[in-house]
Amino acid sequence: MYFDNAATSYPKPQVVKQAVIDFFNEENGSFQRTDTENSDFIFKTREKIARLLNVESPSNIVFTSNSTESLNMIIQGFLKKGNHVITTATEHNSVIRPLIRLRKEKMIKISWIECNRNGLIKPSDIMKNIRDNTTLIIVNHGSNVTGQVQDIEQIGNMLKKYGGKIKFLVDISQTAGHIKIDNSKIGADFLAFTGHKALLGLPGIGGFYINPEIDLTPLKVGGTGVLSELLEQPKAVPLRYESGTMNTIGILSLYHSIDYLNSLTLDKIESQLKQKTKYFIDRLSKLDNFEIYSLENPLGIVSFNVKGIVPSRISHFLLKDLNLKSRSGLHCAPFIHEFLHKNPFGCVRLSMSYDTTNDEIDTVCNYLERLNENVAVIQNIKLPKIYEMPSIRKVEDR
Ligand SMILES: Cc1ncc(COP(=O)(O)O)c(C=O)c1O
Repeated sequence: MYFDNAATSYPKPQVVKQAVIDFFNEENGSFQRTDTENSDFIFKTREKIARLLNVESPSNIVFTSNSTESLNMIIQGFLKKGNHVITTATEHNSVIRPLIRLRKEKMIKISWIECNRNGLIKPSDIMKNIRDNTTLIIVNHGSNVTGQVQDIEQIGNMLKKYGGKIKFLVDISQTAGHIKIDNSKIGADFLAFTGHKALLGLPGIGGFYINPEIDLTPLKVGGTGVLSELLEQPKAVPLRYESGTMNTIGILSLYHSIDYLNSLTLDKIESQLKQKTKYFIDRLSKLDNFEIYSLENPLGIVSFNVKGIVPSRISHFLLKDLNLKSRSGLHCAPFIHEFLHKNPFGCVRLSMSYDTTNDEIDTVCNYLERLNENVAVIQNIKLPKIYEMPSIRKVEDR
């Protein structure tokens, strides 16, 4: 049983698998390095993503290897010495680490917005922290730890009064493919996505939307396959940010997986995952040794701890006894845990997909109910030494 979809989705749709096999049976060449009709699917994939996010220009969809690369390109390419950034306790390390590095190099100041015990932030807290030199707001749309979705439309609307002076970056790694994202209502300047999670594509493909009025300093420069006479990086987007041979197979996987998602409809995916998480959480809530951090959510995530047990032990038991794949720990999002619990080892995360069956959920719930009855025995197993939990308060700039 696979309950680790928030890390990477499984299974991929049959159309995606078939397209990858077919790709190797044809002479496809290298996009923009050879002239083939097939390279057109790259632009068509940009169009599909632009429609999915409701942004106007497909050329402003840039392909990268994943969200981590997208976020690094945006954060490092946009921020300048003396800038102030506002971000949240729910961020992934792919936002935290580039920011902390820039801060260490004495370039930028950061304000961290706290969240509640389910990972929800207050948009008004962002507004309260705006300063004269604030240039970028970064918000994780959906928490990979709790499944909590933030009200990014409200944040986008609140930022309108700054007339474009403050740019808005939304990390949609967990939400793209799970819920509708309509940028005509959000007004984000950047949307960073990854292909291998809910978008159901292959690992190694991701990208971002960039507001056509913004120019980033490209993180890497080099061959673009065209305009070879220019000795400087071309200015035109997406070429400006896409040096090097592209992950054409990854892009092809998105070409097909997005059609598949559209055929299911995002509304249906969202409502099914809300039902599944609600059912799961309702059952776990009755167990006295369980502490649950997720509320009903469209990301399919249920996170919890069992009193007195290191979370990785639970994942280990689930794997050994049910052959169930789950994830335990801090989930690359160290700060959010400070607001959820006091366990320095993080929490257990079970993450479902549209394909997760009710039978599978019942099997896990039945198992966890039995575990709840036997907690006293398991608690007796010697626990490792306690580590200190990362805290946003220690890296604050206030
Ligand atoms: C919220 C969030 N942001 C960014 C990332 C990074 O994604 P990737 O590893 O595909 O770069 C993840 C992946 O876990 C995530 O959940």
